[in-house]
Amino acid sequence: MRIDIITILPELMKSPFEASIIKRAQEKNQVEIHFHTPRDFTNNVHKTIDDKPYGGMAGMVMMPEPLSLLIESLLEKRSYDKIIYLTPDGEPLKQKRANSLSLCQNLMLICGHYKGIDQRIRDLYVNLEISIGDYVLTGGELAACVLVDTIVRLIPGVIGNETSALTDSFQDGLLAPPIYTRPEVFKGLEVPKVLLSGNFEKIEAWNFQMSQQRTQERRPDLLDEFD
Ligand code: ADE
Repeated sequence: MRIDIITILPELMKSPFEASIIKRAQEKNQVEIHFHTPRDFTNNVHKTIDDKPYGGMAGMVMMPEPLSLLIESLLEKRSYDKIIYLTPDGEPLKQKRANSLSLCQNLMLICGHYKGIDQRIRDLYVNLEISIGDYVLTGGELAACVLVDTIVRLIPGVIGNETSALTDSFQDGLLAPPIYTRPEVFKGLEVPKVLLSGNFEKIEAWNFQMSQQRTQERRPDLLDEFD
């Protein structure tokens, strides 16, 4: 997979991709992540990329020209499965969407700043808008990091033990069950006996029951969608 990220703050985004699973995925050429800045596509000496909004509202808006030139320069080289704009008014990010995006070849991510990007860039180029939650970040960069992380760990082969990604919370529509490691007793709290039984049928049934119970307690809204 190739991911092209349009941002005026690449330095804000680099470190999450320089550690752990995402770093290894890049080293193994399972994913390539490239950063591009619209400042390189301005035609004014100050490299200005924002301007006042029409209508007299407060804040600044990212100008369409530099973004458009940058996006078109990328489109000249390859086609994209999705051109994604990170925005609080986008589709709420869910595991199902991450699963389908993990099967794409080329993704372009656009991070907005200030009040956002000129609507015409959204109308002309963007075909998926994603929000990572009902709160407003200072820009799309952190949201893009979250999106990339959720997608890349799902690319086949990126997580060593494939079943590990498949047993995550949300993967089957339920929250994950509680998990334990050694020691068997910690500060007086015991690991549930069934997990020590070696009876995989029983363990699976217990995990399922715990998943359902946890989902019922914490996120009953998810059960409405679960079949
Ligand atoms: N940009 C600012 N806030 C955001 C959010 N919650 N999700 C995605 N992009 C954003």
